Amino acid sequence: MPRVLSGMRPTGQLHLGHLVGALANWKKLQESYECFFMVADWHALMGEYENPQKIRQWGYENVVDWLAAGIDPKKSVIFRQSDVPEHTELFTVLSIITPLGWVERVPTYKEQLREIEGRDLTTYGFLGYPVLQAADILLYKADAVPVGEDQLPHLELTREIVRRAHFLLKKEIFPEPKPLLTESPRLLGADGRKMSKSYGNTFNLYQDADALRQAIQKMVTDTTRIKMTDPGHPEACNVCGYWKTFAPDRAAAMWEECRTSKRGCSQNKRELAEVMVELTRPFRETREKLAGDGGFEKIEVLLQDGAKRARAVASKTIAEVKHAFGLS
Ligand code: TRP
Repeated sequence: MPRVLSGMRPTGQLHLGHLVGALANWKKLQESYECFFMVADWHALMGEYENPQKIRQWGYENVVDWLAAGIDPKKSVIFRQSDVPEHTELFTVLSIITPLGWVERVPTYKEQLREIEGRDLTTYGFLGYPVLQAADILLYKADAVPVGEDQLPHLELTREIVRRAHFLLKKEIFPEPKPLLTESPRLLGADGRKMSKSYGNTFNLYQDADALRQAIQKMVTDTTRIKMTDPGHPEACNVCGYWKTFAPDRAAAMWEECRTSKRGCSQNKRELAEVMVELTRPFRETREKLAGDGGFEKIEVLLQDGAKRARAVASKTIAEVKHAFGLS
C-alpha cells in the first residue's frame, strides 16, 4: 500500500472544522494507505514556546478525538513527533541543504509574521517550520500527504528539497510526495465567520449536548427571511449549509421546504441540533469511557506503541541518509 503521513499541532481542543477538514478524510485514507498520523508537538512548540504548558495535555486530548473519529491504531500508526528523535535529526540534514531564500519566501511564513499578534515568531526555529514538516514527510518516504489548501506551499517546498537532495547526492532516496487535497466544504463558525478558536465561534467535538443545542439555537439563519411565510435562501444560510455538510441525504428536501416556506428556521435549527448531538456522541462517549479507564495513561501507552512502530521506519531512513551524506 502507498504511504501517507499527516499531522496536527496540539495547540488546543479540536472542533467540527477539524472533523470535516481532516479527520473524516484521515479515516477514509486508512482503507487504501499505510497511514502515519502524528501529534506535531515540536511544531506546536515553535509557535507556543512562550506558553508551552498545555501542549502535552492537548496532544492527549487530540488523540482521544482522533480515536473517536475512527482513526484505528490497529490500522494506522499514531505517534507523537518528539518521541521519534529521527524527526529532529532529518530536520538538521534538510536545514543544511535548504537555501535560506526558499524558506524566507514561503507565503505562510510571511503571513504569520504579519498576522499573529502577541507572540514573537521572529525566531530561527520558526523560519524552519516547513523544513521540519518536510522532515516529517520524508522520514517515512510518504507518497502522499493529506493537507488543507493553506499547507500546499509547505508541500511544494518539500518537493523542492527532495530534488535538491537528489541533485547533491546524485542518487534518489525519497519519493516526491503528492498533496491529497481534502475536498471538504468550508465550514463556517456559529456566527457565519471563518471557524476559528480566536473568534470563539467553534463547536467543540465533545461539547455537552445541551450546550450544543443552545449554541445551534443561537445561529444566524437567512437574514432576509423575517417571517416564516417569506421564502428562504438556503444557499445563503449557515444553518442550511450545516445541513448539507452533516445530513447530506436529508438536505435536498429540507432546502426545498425552506425555499417554499414549508419549514421555518427554528425547526431547521431544532432538527439540526439533534443531528449534531448524534454526530458528536462518540466524542463525548470516548472521553467519558477514558475517564473511567484511568485517563490519559491508556493514550500514553498507545503513543509509545506508535512511536516504536514509527521508529522502525524512521531509523532506517536516517541510516540511509547519513550514509548517503558520508557520515557513516
Ligand atoms: N503544519 C501542519 C498544520 O499546521 C501540521 C503538520 C506538521 C503536518 N507536520 C506535518 C501536516 C506533516 C502534514 C504533514 O496543519
